[in-house]
Amino acid sequence: MISENPEVSIRLVDLKSFDDRIFQHSVSVCILAVVLGKSLKQPLKNLEDLALGALLHDLGMMLLPPPIRKNQGKLTLAEMNLFKTHPREGFNLLGRFANISAQAKAFVLQHHERYNGSGYPKELSGIDIHLGARIGGLVDAYDDLVSDHPHRSRLLPHQALAVIKEGTGRLFDPDVAAHFLRIVSPYPIGSRLLLSSGEEVSVIRVAAGFLASPIVQVVSDAKGLKPDRTVLIDLASDPRFRIEKVLG
Ligand SMILES: [Fe+2]
Repeated sequence: MISENPEVSIRLVDLKSFDDRIFQHSVSVCILAVVLGKSLKQPLKNLEDLALGALLHDLGMMLLPPPIRKNQGKLTLAEMNLFKTHPREGFNLLGRFANISAQAKAFVLQHHERYNGSGYPKELSGIDIHLGARIGGLVDAYDDLVSDHPHRSRLLPHQALAVIKEGTGRLFDPDVAAHFLRIVSPYPIGSRLLLSSGEEVSVIRVAAGFLASPIVQVVSDAKGLKPDRTVLIDLASDPRFRIEKVLG
C-alpha cells in the first residue's frame, strides 16, 4: 500500500522526524482502525483506505505552531480555533496527490466530526460522516485518552472505554462503537487487578467474548502473601471472584 504511494512515504518520514508523538499516535490509530474495520466486515480496499487515512490523519498538525501542536495546556479560544484547522490543512496537503484515495482523504478531513454534529470542521452528523472517518474518529479519540499528554495523564483502558461508551450514539456511531467495545479489552494482558476476595492478580490471558473476565495469575493472596506456586483464576467461569479495583 505504502510502496504504491511514494508521496505517503515522504509525508510519513516528514511526520516521524517532525513530531515523534504524533507519528506514534498515527501508527496506533492505524492498527486500531484496521482491527475495527475488520470487525465491521469491511472489504480489503476499505481496510487499506482506513490504514492510509489513519497514518496521515494528523498531517495538518505539521502546519501548527509547536505550543498548539504539542497542546501543553489549556488552549485559548483563538488557539483552539487554530488547532481545529488541522483536518482541513491535512486534507489540502494531500489534495494534489491523485493516487491517495478519496476515502483516505475523507478520513483526514472528517476525523474530528462527531455523530451528533458537534465536531469540526463541517459539523457533519450521522452517516453524512464517511464511515472511515466514523471509525477513525472513534479510535483516534480512544488512543488520545489512553496516551500521556503534557497537561494530563493517560486513562487506563477500562476508564477510556467508559468514556467511549458514554459517547455512544452521541459522539460516536452506535454500531461502530458497539463493535469497538466488543473487541477492546478493558483489562489487557499485564493489567493489575484487586479482586473482591482480596487477591492482587495480573491478567495473563483475555479470551474473545470474555473481554471483561480475563484469566489472571495471583500475585499476592488476601493476606498479601506471594503464593509459592502458580495460581490461575478464570474470572469468566468462577463466580466467587469479581474485579474490585484496577490497580494499573
Ligand atoms: Fe486530529
